[in-house]
Amino acid sequence: MNHFEDRAGPAGAELWCEDVRLSDIAEAVGTPVYVYSSATLERHYRAFHDAFAPRDVLIAYAVKANGSLSVLRTLIQLGAGADTVSEGEIRRALAAGAPPERIVFSGVGKTDAELAFALDVGVAEINVESEPELERLIALAATKGKRPTVALRINPNVGAGGHAKITTGDEGNKFGVSLGEAERLYARASAAPELDVAGVACHIGSQISDLTPMEAAFTTMRHLVERLHAQGLKVRRLDLGGGLGVPYFDQPEPPSPRVYAEMVERVVGDLDVQLAFEPGRLIAANAGALVSQVIQVHARPGGRRFLVLDAAMNDLLRPAMYDAFHAIRPVVSKPDAPRVVYDVVGPVCETGDTFARGREMAELAAGDLVAFMSAGAYGASMASEYNARPLIPEVLVKGDRFAVTRRRPTYEEMLARDTFAPWLE
Ligand code: LLP
Repeated sequence: MNHFEDRAGPAGAELWCEDVRLSDIAEAVGTPVYVYSSATLERHYRAFHDAFAPRDVLIAYAVKANGSLSVLRTLIQLGAGADTVSEGEIRRALAAGAPPERIVFSGVGKTDAELAFALDVGVAEINVESEPELERLIALAATKGKRPTVALRINPNVGAGGHAKITTGDEGNKFGVSLGEAERLYARASAAPELDVAGVACHIGSQISDLTPMEAAFTTMRHLVERLHAQGLKVRRLDLGGGLGVPYFDQPEPPSPRVYAEMVERVVGDLDVQLAFEPGRLIAANAGALVSQVIQVHARPGGRRFLVLDAAMNDLLRPAMYDAFHAIRPVVSKPDAPRVVYDVVGPVCETGDTFARGREMAELAAGDLVAFMSAGAYGASMASEYNARPLIPEVLVKGDRFAVTRRRPTYEEMLARDTFAPWLE
């Protein structure tokens, strides 16, 4: 459920975000533009939170899904924490107002400088992913005279997710320590006076549409916690990661947060631990749309029709990178428009810059607006300036108001970041 809805307009049904017409945003801000719905962010956060009520869980929203400061602050004001994977993301979370005691720092390759920064900030939990990282953190904590709270990220050897590139829980994936070394490393960490060891963490993949692998992984984590307890080791927090999928199109709906929470309660609910989660997509995906304009329709002899948009793979990478499906809807649906089959493409100079092949849609013409739905997660956050295309603006809607929360840079600003090597000046 999101707050992008059609309402009747003079030219046909028009797509609105809450109480704002997407076409009004496009006119004011230009295209392409990302548009986010505050009400949807709130709804999704609350749905996840309430599914666990009255249990006090830490919901560390995965900043990588959408790190817009306004999106972050919207969630932080509701009580969310932040799951971060770089110093940049920690800084974003802090800038948006996240209290350090709600920031989790994950990632397979944290540099010494990033770990030092996290120590200075005093984040809630550093998820340690390997033995060398554990030793580096112990040494660094000793040097800095800090005692960070850590969790050990376990690779439960259960992979899942919407695409091989976003599966993280397989033994062959780079993430976390293997089960075989988990107890030894947990004991090592617990014995280190430099560390406050809070517990264990896992995250097995993203866009997971079936609870079976999650249940298997959480059961594995449960047994691990029991073994650690049996050895007299303290485990007070269990971080179960993110990964719950969202409906991108007419497909079987992924399990709701409520069904997910029931499974979690059933599998680990009786353990005496605080539960933490790192949802990203679930909260942000359906809260965002990418609005783009048709540059032209290019009909080839033989029947192929290319719908050439002003958005490209650098703005929304998911179709090129994961063959991901995004619904593409006209912003104004003209009544009686014939159905036409398009290849929907952007202007970037690669065939990979194709959003959809053979997609049947209402006929469109140059100048028409379309919206890519469910683009709020891993859309803007994965954008680049490939082909020297400026990063596109972001707009946050709340009720009948909207605000540009990241403006489009000027070409002068983009050029000013480069300098000439002195011998070329
Ligand atoms: N925690 C950790 C440690 C993660 O690596 C991730 C996502 C999350 C939480 C959040 O997962 P979520 O709830 O959003 O599924 N760019 C890809 C998705 C990559 C996910 C990476 N890790 C895409 O566009 O599908």
